[in-house]
Amino acid sequence: MEDLPKGLASSNASKIAKRLESVSGGRILDVATAGGGFIDTLMKTLKDYDSFVGIDYCASATSKKEMESAKKRFEGKPVRFFEMNAETLKFEDESFDTVCMSHSLHHLANIGKVLAEMKRVLKNGGDFILQEAYCDGDQTEAQKADELEHEWLARIDSLLGITHNKTLTKQRIMNIVNSLELRELEVFDSTHPVDCLFCKRKHECEDPKNQATFHNLIKEIDDAFKRIENYSDLETQNRLKEEGERIKETIAKSGSASASYLFIIGRT
Ligand SMILES: C[S@@+](CC[C@H](N)C(=O)[O-])C[C@H]1O[C@@H](n2cnc3c(N)ncnc32)[C@H](O)[C@@H]1O
Repeated sequence: MEDLPKGLASSNASKIAKRLESVSGGRILDVATAGGGFIDTLMKTLKDYDSFVGIDYCASATSKKEMESAKKRFEGKPVRFFEMNAETLKFEDESFDTVCMSHSLHHLANIGKVLAEMKRVLKNGGDFILQEAYCDGDQTEAQKADELEHEWLARIDSLLGITHNKTLTKQRIMNIVNSLELRELEVFDSTHPVDCLFCKRKHECEDPKNQATFHNLIKEIDDAFKRIENYSDLETQNRLKEEGERIKETIAKSGSASASYLFIIGRT
């Protein structure tokens, strides 16, 4: 592998990838898959797998679009997508060898129900994989700017009736994980996603002020402005727009980098 940039090399991304390389995934369920991003990651890293099923109830127009384009992207591969509520999975008990969920805990209206369903459909002794960003700990100014934008977007989603909570704390994620009572639990804490190891853009994100990330975030904020254009309460709408403009300034000043996250793997 090429020499990794310092930030990525000192993160736990390589350790997580190595751990995934030891997993024979078998039949895998990815819950709240959206555009199947985590399926991509697992395909690149797992020791082997038979097939994937990605489910999402497509709460927003964006996740619906993402799932439709994922269906095309994975054509010819052993991957199927279904629109389905994770609180009532339409699968038999113990019908998957591996279940996983990536960056979606804070999107769930009923975390307990979803996790119970994931455990129900997982074979005894199967792997349970979870990754979720956290908001506290030792984050850089660029990560804090990203969190600020995320919290603002989550508030807009909530106003529009889409469940989207604030990023969780590390302790809250661990409390949720501990309630699963998994065996052989391993927890990795990383600043960088595993996908950074496969970067095709010369690791440009290592610079928190890189232009591509900056333009993506500004576009995300401008898109959110459009989504609230018809919101009934004009005062709230104007306040959110002012906050959005201030967040743009913070991002221009501090740059932006994705929040640190916990990667968790254990067996039932
Ligand atoms: C941040 S996105 C998922 C990202 C994706 N897992 C990845 O790593 O690329 C969160 C998703 O959770 C989905 N979601 C929220 N509650 C759900 C539920 N009860 N059942 C199924 N999907 C749900 C939303 O529709 C949304 O697409």
